[in-house]
Amino acid sequence: MTNRYQEIKDTLLADPRRWLVTGCAGFIGSNLLEALLRLNQTVVGLDDFSTGYQHNLDEVQRLTSPEQWARFTFIEGDIRDPQTCARAVGGVDHVLHEAALGSVPRSLNDPATTNAVNVGGQLNMLIAARDAQVRSFVYAASSSTYGDHPDLPKVEDHIGKPLSPYAVTKYVNELYADVFARAYGFGSIGLRYFNVFGQRQDPDGAYAAVIPKWVAAMIRDEELVINGDGQTSRDFCFVENVVQANLLAALAQPEGMNQVYNVACNARTSLNDLFEHLRATLGQNGVTYAKAPVHGDFRAGDVRHSQADISKAHSLLGYEPAYNILQGLEVSMPWYTQFLR
Ligand SMILES: NC(=O)c1ccc[n+]([C@@H]2O[C@H](COP(=O)([O-])OP(=O)(O)OC[C@H]3O[C@@H](n4cnc5c(N)ncnc54)[C@H](O)[C@@H]3O)[C@@H](O)[C@H]2O)c1
Repeated sequence: MTNRYQEIKDTLLADPRRWLVTGCAGFIGSNLLEALLRLNQTVVGLDDFSTGYQHNLDEVQRLTSPEQWARFTFIEGDIRDPQTCARAVGGVDHVLHEAALGSVPRSLNDPATTNAVNVGGQLNMLIAARDAQVRSFVYAASSSTYGDHPDLPKVEDHIGKPLSPYAVTKYVNELYADVFARAYGFGSIGLRYFNVFGQRQDPDGAYAAVIPKWVAAMIRDEELVINGDGQTSRDFCFVENVVQANLLAALAQPEGMNQVYNVACNARTSLNDLFEHLRATLGQNGVTYAKAPVHGDFRAGDVRHSQADISKAHSLLGYEPAYNILQGLEVSMPWYTQFLR
């Protein structure tokens, strides 16, 4: 099989497009921005800095050439505002919609704001993109949509009941995308990410994800808490795999359209093993962490195990994750050690 990702990168280099990346100051959005600029694409970015940072954009600027950076236009604005969405999408070929309020605990504490941003904001983006007749619309869905369904690995069609307000919003995103296809003939693709990690993922704050949070604790030599017995497991996915999935989806063939796809590695790592992997990878980067982890309570709204079946993304999009968890940690750890010291 030819490498579809390489094919798409070659196509984009030969025939650059105009992209909108919402949430471009965030973790995944800034990695998409960097990848697109490196491919000499023109990019409009939209973000309100609610959980994203100017320093992520500054870093992308440092990592790209002045010519590439000159092809980027930033709009500071809120996807809850329909006019902002319409302005951002004007003249755009492809939309990568990442802006949302992530985190299960955040949504349990403040379901109304999570709903307003994730559901209302995505609906505004869908309307704006439909009216602007963009060529493709790819949005960030989530593995949280599997909820309490017991099957492993997770297959796209078999979902359970949501376990958090966040999971509801991400499922509603899929329902709206689906109805836009049937009601308006507006095509889109949803990517169900599973625990993404990598450079520029926020290590701080109450809602930090487990990998950056633990890496930060280890570098700062602080106590580290494992929620529950540590046998909880996840399909941790390096952000470069997510970038690949987005570009494949944006340029998908017609048979791949109007679908949702799992994006991960079809692997499972327990929290206890993750702890050891992080300690070892940090050790290779000159950081020694000698403390034993403390076990706390299980966290409300968390699923016990998660692992993605990725055969659908492989067969319909040509997705082939290029990094497993250890390779991803190896690539991203120098960033953390530099950023946090
Ligand atoms: N990181 C993961 O493991 C993961 C897993 C599943 C799904 N997702 C989804 O992927 C997307 C990106 O997540 P991330 O991890 O990069 O999070 P992030 O918080 O780093 O990025 C989200 C970005 O969206 C911006 N944003 C939030 N509300 C906004 C608003 N109202 N208007 C404009 N911009 C707004 C934030 O400022 C931030 O820059 C989200 O949709 C998230 O739900 C992430």
